[in-house]
Amino acid sequence: MNVLSVKLIYFSPTGTTKKILEGIAKGMGIENIEHVGMTLPDATTKPLDSFTDELVVIGAPVYSGRLPDDAVKRFKRFRAENTPAVMVVVYGNREYEDALLELTNLSKDLGFVPISAGAFIGEHSYATKNVPIANGRPDTKDIEKATEFGAGIMRKMTDIQTLDGVSSLKVPGNFPYKDGMPSLPESPETLEEICTTCGTCADICPRAAITVNDTVETNQNLCIKCCACVKGCPESARVMDVPRIKGAAKWLNENYSLRKEPEVFI
Ligand SMILES: Cc1cc2nc3c(=O)[nH]c(=O)nc-3n(C[C@H](O)[C@H](O)[C@H](O)COP(=O)(O)O)c2cc1C
Repeated sequence: MNVLSVKLIYFSPTGTTKKILEGIAKGMGIENIEHVGMTLPDATTKPLDSFTDELVVIGAPVYSGRLPDDAVKRFKRFRAENTPAVMVVVYGNREYEDALLELTNLSKDLGFVPISAGAFIGEHSYATKNVPIANGRPDTKDIEKATEFGAGIMRKMTDIQTLDGVSSLKVPGNFPYKDGMPSLPESPETLEEICTTCGTCADICPRAAITVNDTVETNQNLCIKCCACVKGCPESARVMDVPRIKGAAKWLNENYSLRKEPEVFI
């Protein structure tokens, strides 16, 4: 099958999933690449183009071994009709558990035909300089793997005559899926002595949970702890000072420091 264009669809609060998808697209060697970002709140309402004859790469981070609820809700707005798709999850060097199976099943329900899938590693959202968890990932090696994966997908697409003949893709995971984690009313806070009220945190929050006036206010009931504001603050004035999450970060740092490598299913 001839692939003329590629759509990258992603929910990616701290940008690691987006980087992996861009690496995959690079390896595909296609000029016509369109980004369909589903991270910001407008993804719940913005008009979505229908699919024609492109290849879709759809990616999300792993939250508690599952897909983030917001990614599922936003991706459910897509309707495909026999559109070939590649599913990608990105996790913080612990485990991805049922997330890749969930994304593969969701894609099928939406009308996509799963061609290939992959699980890649990104810096953990809770990681800091002092408590590193996969810091700096995806790194050069990860992007090389993503690029090779992209090239492999294109070879597979060239070999495929019709999508009816594509055998069903097997990915790890269990159904029924594991329980995700309930979201508690907690959030990062702002160090007011450093904050310049520039508003970046509000602009990049996937849930519109942050309001900036003379000070920065965060609606803890809306916050999904994605840490976009922590990693994206130009002054490093947003900190996740929640004991439960700091404890989790310490545990991850102590138990999951051994480097994991990407897995692909072509
Ligand atoms: C609420 C939450 C739960 C997470 N759960 C997991 C997990 O179960 N396993 C894991 O390895 N990483 C986990 N992570 C880390 C993210 O999957 C990882 O940092 C990913 O690279 C973030 O993707 P993004 O940069 O596209 O936002 C979690 C992060 C958050 C915020």
